[in-house]
Amino acid sequence: MLLNIFLNLNSLFNPFMKNSDLNPLSSLEDWEDDILRRYPDPEITKKKDEYRNYNDSHRDSTVREFYRLNHKYQTYDFVSAKEDEFLSFNKREMSIWDALDYLNTLVDESDPDIELDQLQHLLQTSEAIRKDGHPDWFVLTGLLHDLGKVLCLFGEPQWAVVGDTFPVGCSYSSKIVYPEFFCENPDFSDERYNTKFGIYSENCGLQNVKMSWGHDEYLYQILRDYLPKPALYMIRYHSFYAQHREGAYEHLMNDEDREYFKWVKLFNPYDLYSKAPVPPDSKALRPYYEGLISKYLPEKLLF
Ligand SMILES: [Fe+2]
Ligand SMILES: [Fe+2]
Repeated sequence: MLLNIFLNLNSLFNPFMKNSDLNPLSSLEDWEDDILRRYPDPEITKKKDEYRNYNDSHRDSTVREFYRLNHKYQTYDFVSAKEDEFLSFNKREMSIWDALDYLNTLVDESDPDIELDQLQHLLQTSEAIRKDGHPDWFVLTGLLHDLGKVLCLFGEPQWAVVGDTFPVGCSYSSKIVYPEFFCENPDFSDERYNTKFGIYSENCGLQNVKMSWGHDEYLYQILRDYLPKPALYMIRYHSFYAQHREGAYEHLMNDEDREYFKWVKLFNPYDLYSKAPVPPDSKALRPYYEGLISKYLPEKLLF
């Protein structure tokens, strides 16, 4: 096992690894656009030109490559190594607003299609939740949910920050996008991990299941002591499409998971479909959100 970890990490951080092996997408939003293509808004038929050009074959191939790398490298040992590396929270101390500003430096100015930066996506999500009269911690969850993407700014490859998440330590479901790429993953042929339950037991509960590493789990671990349980479920599992959209991992869920996944499902349309052409006025909204942040969170958090 130790040798495996070494080989995995060694291959991941090989200095000769091309940048395209780390960051095949021209921007993180390409992954989210691909989700929109898979799960289009059932209620709104947007004019084709309001979204990016989904027939762009270059973008299609970079998204494919992104998933190939994600599925190849997200092994049980890889996730364990990332937990060791990041869950000691020794990278940076930031207020939430510092982190939002920091995350916003992810905007890729070379991509002419990007009209909304990261802060605007978060504010649009939270404002849509607020408009529907939901509790204030739900609004705050909308504002915070993608903050874990600061992992990219710590030098992490895109496929270890974004992408659909899924359990590791048991067989990969065919309901996960591009399931064929899992054959390159060493766990695919490891008999400890390649059965329906793998190292887990039936209905053991997601609390006991290790998920592929990315911005969801990282932010959950940062905020786990501060927000109500439904908020934590929304943050931790919002990219777990194979379950909240496809129901592929019922066999690992317990009653509590089933109860709280109602919130994950409620959150998902706000995340996917709240993009509006008019950008929110972050300056005007800031005092309201400063108040909300200070109601639930300490002044500074460790990342
Ligand atoms: Fe996200
Ligand atoms: Fe999001």
